[in-house]
Amino acid sequence: MDLLHSILLCILLGTTVLGASRTTPPSGALIVRAGTTTPGEYATFAAALAALPNDDSSQSIFIYPGTYTGQVDITREGPLTIYGYTTDTSNYVNNQVNIDAAGNATTAGSDDASGTVRVHKNNFAAYNINIRNTLGPGVQAIALSQYGSQVGFYGCGMYGYQDTLYANEGTQVYLKGYIEGAVDFIFGRQGSAYFGGNTIAQKAPGCITASGRETNDTNSYVFNQNTIILASGAATNTANNFYLGPNIRLRVIFKNTVIESQINTALWSIWSSATPNTDFVFYADYNTTGPGAQGIVRPSFAKLLTAAQAEEYSIASAVGSNYASWVDAAYIV
Ligand SMILES: *[C@@H]1O[C@H](CO)[C@@H](O)[C@H](O)[C@H]1NC(C)=O
Ligand SMILES: *[C@@H]1O[C@H](CO)[C@@H](O)[C@H](O)[C@H]1NC(C)=O
Ligand SMILES: *[C@@H]1O[C@H](CO)[C@@H](O)[C@H](O)[C@H]1NC(C)=O
Repeated sequence: MDLLHSILLCILLGTTVLGASRTTPPSGALIVRAGTTTPGEYATFAAALAALPNDDSSQSIFIYPGTYTGQVDITREGPLTIYGYTTDTSNYVNNQVNIDAAGNATTAGSDDASGTVRVHKNNFAAYNINIRNTLGPGVQAIALSQYGSQVGFYGCGMYGYQDTLYANEGTQVYLKGYIEGAVDFIFGRQGSAYFGGNTIAQKAPGCITASGRETNDTNSYVFNQNTIILASGAATNTANNFYLGPNIRLRVIFKNTVIESQINTALWSIWSSATPNTDFVFYADYNTTGPGAQGIVRPSFAKLLTAAQAEEYSIASAVGSNYASWVDAAYIV
């Protein structure tokens, strides 16, 4: 198929042509531009969200480069897509839109309430935006709090320290993005999520994933082809002192992971010896490689999958066999 036909097919299917720039708003999108005085544009993300009709129509918002400060809670009924300005849609590297806040779960009253961006709706997608909780160490401080189903983040960056990404409910995908934190920074209770082709950046000693699965449900976090690195400015004692997860009732599978800096050789940690939380736990990895994956000796509660077993864990097993109807195929790895 020639390029023109590929592009036409992508447009028909609603998928993205990767690598292209997105520097002008798609037709029909509300426009957010920092400092704008142009009639019809919005100077903040929150103002554009508030201007959307609260009905079941499909809507989109395009955001020009800048840092937009303030928490947002996205609740409208109909499908919504957020597009960040970028010179390269293929991943997060050229993102120029930051959504910032410094929520603190103690002050806010809950993990969810501390989120910089809170998604409490189904059928939501975001492309090439960075979502940051800038509070730093000390308390749970969520960047993204996600409760919707059929929700996709494509080429997005998530930045925080403790509990960055709260994939708490619903079905969701995180593809070709960046997720940074130190402590339990990808976590949730009833969410099902697929993470593909992301860079996961460890900022200080701690665990990447955590979860409080409260029943023996079928929800899982499936990771495929992600790269784990030390974050820029990571604490000097981070190498050797981080883990894929603590043993806290999670069902998590890491496939084809490349680890760049030495992970703790146990790979997985228990929650604490007093409360090991070994009920409902399923921890597994397959084909974990890289300079940081030397000398791994898995604890008894963790599994090393065979190739055949690893096949059972996929985007379909994580978010449902109808994933092709809502996930942007251009980003799937
Ligand atoms: C979070 O808020 C609590 C209560 O207001 C405060 O005591 C604490 O210092 C805050 N934590 C950080 C890291 O700012
Ligand atoms: C193992 O993972 C690496 C990195 O994702 C990938 O390039 C390689 O093809 C995988 N090997 C197998 C046997 O799946
Ligand atoms: C949870 O389900 C798994 C798979 O069906 C099963 O092996 C395990 O024993 C169950 N655990 C509990 C505590 O019910």
